[in-house]
Amino acid sequence: MEKYNWGIIGTGTISNLFAEGLTTLDHACIYAVGSRNQATAASFAEKWQISQVYDSYEILFADPEVDVVYIGTPHNFHFQNVRDALNAGKHVLCEKPFTLNGVEARELVALARQKNLFLMDAMWNRFQPWFQVVSDLLKEERLGELLHFKADLSFRFDVGAEHRIYNRNLGGGSLLDLGVYPIALASAFMGKPTEIKSMAHLYHTGVDDQVSMLFGYTSGATAELGCSSRYLSKNNATIHGSRGFIEIHGMIIRPEKITIHEQGQEIVEIEMPYTSNAYQYEAQAVMEMLEQGNTEHPLMPLDETIEIMDTMDEIRASIRVAYPGE
Ligand SMILES: NC(=O)c1ccc[n+]([C@@H]2O[C@H](COP(=O)([O-])OP(=O)(O)OC[C@H]3O[C@@H](n4cnc5c(N)ncnc54)[C@H](OP(=O)(O)O)[C@@H]3O)[C@@H](O)[C@H]2O)c1
Repeated sequence: MEKYNWGIIGTGTISNLFAEGLTTLDHACIYAVGSRNQATAASFAEKWQISQVYDSYEILFADPEVDVVYIGTPHNFHFQNVRDALNAGKHVLCEKPFTLNGVEARELVALARQKNLFLMDAMWNRFQPWFQVVSDLLKEERLGELLHFKADLSFRFDVGAEHRIYNRNLGGGSLLDLGVYPIALASAFMGKPTEIKSMAHLYHTGVDDQVSMLFGYTSGATAELGCSSRYLSKNNATIHGSRGFIEIHGMIIRPEKITIHEQGQEIVEIEMPYTSNAYQYEAQAVMEMLEQGNTEHPLMPLDETIEIMDTMDEIRASIRVAYPGE
């Protein structure tokens, strides 16, 4: 594999975690960082030993040596940042949620396809080893008919109204930030829901801080999903079939163990060890696609990303959460 030059834009929490993951990959060079200001760019560059330091995202996109751009900015900037990067001819990995809504997602996917550039939603847990293990178990039909999926991702955020989790101008809300994970897992394991019912609690800024969701599928299967920035949950998931269930232990963003419970059988436990902080798996997956000349990853197809955004649009319409300009 050749060595790929990554350009990271945004220097906050997730960009640091992603950079840490990249440092473990032989074929990744953290070549450039772009920030809104020189001082944060310089300190990020010093921390991760990055040679090209830019005080704007646009200059990074214009650097011909950058092969692939990682977008680590708040959700509401993803659309513009991805569009600018694609228009500059760059391959892109964009943080979750991919965009604010399905309209934005469709436009970016069309642009990437038109330009024949790689684009992916950074749904990092799909590239961790456990995901393949569970997908294989489901393919083997060990659980029988899939009947129900249950997942929650909730943490208590003791932060003010200006924080991006509660800030409407920054695409705030627990659904887009946390709920996207249970929804994406339901999408991976159960497919596209045909019926959605939701109930939410809203924060005083008008964004949701707690959402409970029920999904129905044409097969008759159901899903029960939740997210909150007010309570802490086990943050796990269970897939129920007619012959047993699989429990995904630890947080669904980075599970630690899987247990298989088949009717009348001993419980089977599979530990899921990780290397580094587990963000490197998605970066490695991107580079493998670039190496093969592919513009999409089969584990996180762009059409599925659009479906996930459409699902969240439908939920937001029913709980009456909209962002400026929508
Ligand atoms: N995959 C995961 O596990 C995970 C975890 C956390 C967050 N995320 C996602 O990553 C994205 C960023 O989240 P974060 O927690 O890293 O946010 P953060 O700590 O606030 O960092 C966001 C960065 O974006 C840049 N930015 C540009 N315009 C901004 C503005 N108006 N206000 C604030 N920052 C602005 C800033 O970098 P510069 O000043 O350098 O330009 C800032 O440091 C979100 O979409 C979130 O959903 C993913």
